[in-house]
Amino acid sequence: MKIIGTGSSHPKKVVTNQMLSDMVDTSDEWITVRTGIKERRIISEENLEDLAIDAARKALDNAGISAIDLDFIICANVVNEFITPALSCIIQGAIGAHCPCIDLNGACVGFIYALDLAEAYYRSGKVKNVLIVCAEEPSRMLSWQDRSVCVLFGDGAGAAVLTAGDNVKATHLSAASSTTSLYQKHELQPSPFVTKPNSNLPLVMRGQDVFKFAANASLADIKFLLNETGYTADDVDKYLLHQANIRIIETVGEVLKQPKEKFPTNIQKYGNTSSASIPILLDELNRGGELKKGDLLALSAFGAGFVSGSCLLKW
Ligand code: COA
Repeated sequence: MKIIGTGSSHPKKVVTNQMLSDMVDTSDEWITVRTGIKERRIISEENLEDLAIDAARKALDNAGISAIDLDFIICANVVNEFITPALSCIIQGAIGAHCPCIDLNGACVGFIYALDLAEAYYRSGKVKNVLIVCAEEPSRMLSWQDRSVCVLFGDGAGAAVLTAGDNVKATHLSAASSTTSLYQKHELQPSPFVTKPNSNLPLVMRGQDVFKFAANASLADIKFLLNETGYTADDVDKYLLHQANIRIIETVGEVLKQPKEKFPTNIQKYGNTSSASIPILLDELNRGGELKKGDLLALSAFGAGFVSGSCLLKW
């Protein structure tokens, strides 16, 4: 397939490091040095579906196709207000599409998993035009008293429209179950048959375990793509890594011996927006005129599961 349109949407509320240091025992310096984040957007008056729909409409507009022409909608999402129906169904109705749709919980790797799924459907001959929307509100998952977690995340939505083409050169997905390093449990309705207590705990994260997994997985995934396609690290024009921590991105760049300029970032403004992070970055680069036709892009993401994934594509 090939990407022909991108879109993104952000909550209005900007939460700076300084604002957080008024809430928990942290500082702008600690957050900046350890993560690269300066501020993030947090949902206040919006609903996540509004952001998802806005990003979807912008991507369709940018692609120059109508919602009627879509054959499939994939929405990557971890939590939103609806357990059911799927967020993709809400988006489908709002934009006026008639195609099937599915939600995918791939945590921070949702966009890459969605790309892989779209490519597989395309190769099977089932679809031509696919809309991917990644919409996340981690601010509703975490504890705003937990300084080790609340400083890291932000909310947002990113979208991409794909159609027939041969620009996706390779995708690679992996999973290595580790359910104690990064997780959150739902609060479920009480049942007379369940004897264990209900769980309503915020997101739990063992930061250093996640950091090591993320850097190693990203490097392994990118090298896998290069081996498979015959391209070298130098051939890649831009590396779009999941915007979780600037130090993870720098580590990957150093090991691959690639200059910083090849690793665009926007983590400073948005923090970690989970699966939305790569499509938001892609949209910024696309609309900013920073992607040239034929540029080779390596996308790489990692997150709760653990799961990771990468994609090599020509712009
Ligand atoms: N402000 C100030 N101090 C903080 C803090 C904060 N927001 N959060 C933690 N600390 C403290 C810790 O309590 C600890 O104090 P101690 O030494 O007195 O015990 C100290 O800072 C160091 O904590 P540590 O966890 O060792 O820091 P770190 O260098 O590993 O950085 C992360 C923490 C979370 C930034 C880092 O581990 C990380 O980025 N991990 C990956 C997270 C991630 O990307 N998750 C999503 C993946 S999709």
